[in-house]
Amino acid sequence: MGSYTDVALIHEEVAVAPTFGSSLPVPNVQEIVKSDPLHVPERYLIKNQEDMPKDADHTCNLSSEIPTIDFSLLSRGHKEELTKLDLACKEWGFFQMVNHGVATEVLQGMKDAAAKFFELPVEEKNKVAMTSDDIQGYGHAYVVSEEQILDWSDLLFLIVYPSQYRKLKFWPTTPEEYKEAIEAYSIEVKRVGEELIRYISLIMGMEKDALLALHQELVQGVLVNYYPPCCMPDKVLGKSPHSDTSTITILMQEDNVTGLQIRKEGEWVPVKPIPNALVVNVGDVVEIWSNGKYKSIEHRAVTTESRARLSYATFLFPHDDVEVEPFDHMVESPGSLRMYKKVRYGDYLRQSLKRKMEGKAHTDAAKTAS
Ligand code: OGA
Ligand code: NI
Repeated sequence: MGSYTDVALIHEEVAVAPTFGSSLPVPNVQEIVKSDPLHVPERYLIKNQEDMPKDADHTCNLSSEIPTIDFSLLSRGHKEELTKLDLACKEWGFFQMVNHGVATEVLQGMKDAAAKFFELPVEEKNKVAMTSDDIQGYGHAYVVSEEQILDWSDLLFLIVYPSQYRKLKFWPTTPEEYKEAIEAYSIEVKRVGEELIRYISLIMGMEKDALLALHQELVQGVLVNYYPPCCMPDKVLGKSPHSDTSTITILMQEDNVTGLQIRKEGEWVPVKPIPNALVVNVGDVVEIWSNGKYKSIEHRAVTTESRARLSYATFLFPHDDVEVEPFDHMVESPGSLRMYKKVRYGDYLRQSLKRKMEGKAHTDAAKTAS
């Protein structure tokens, strides 16, 4: 228990761990619901008729067409599965991944620990509250003005890899298994995520490890979203439409409540959970590298009247210093347009965090012509 060493370690941690932007403080939605479940404050109400979520679950026929990719076939080198992955990334930017090999206990362990955390009294959760200079910890993200319409959700965000980026002051100590659960889950998601990035490298016509190497250091963050029940689900959004600033995102959903929707051909398509499947979406980095050939799809989360929903998003993204721009070989013919400017990833990420999440606003800002 050498406290001297501990102090040195803490200093070292602070010295190398970057901050990722900030968000204005807003009320805790879970507490709003607890104190008055039948009322939604004005700041959360969507004004624009077109943006209001509709009950798409029964009407949308595209839902059943969301691609499913079998990870075990990819790892056994099946060419057809690689072709399916290529199509899924081009046409959808989005797929359900089955047979990924992550043990059910590991998935469940993460879910149980997170559920327990969100059940704690707010004073306890606030022990790991975000501070004004970072978006790690318990709080909210992408709140940039007092006027914007707010999302009906609370969150807990932690950077897990590289391990020297960890800020342990934001890691819950209750429930005591949280650390172990997020660690066990993240090791597995890292393994699967790195493999997926290798396959994306292949479908882009590159060496298997080329994309991973371009990250300099693969950064991994885990975001647990908590969407409390909402008495006005048709006038409120759990998470506003956005695309992810990551290379790829791997999302675990709950089995029995639908909330995630993706925008396809102008329609909002609900992503019905497949038990034990992980949902994968292409992020902005792959969209830019591929010059728009692979789509970082716009998505959002709706709320439910009767119950809360949790989701667990792992973002994999490059080191701050990586310069991201379309690969030459992805700009189709010599005369074709380069759709995106060169951007330092750290700047791209922080600019995005300063903008309210709004559809494809992040990648639009990176485009060469508006
Ligand atoms: C996200 C996200 C969707 C969901 O966290 O970026 O899109 O279903 N979440 O919670
Ligand atoms: Ni997202």
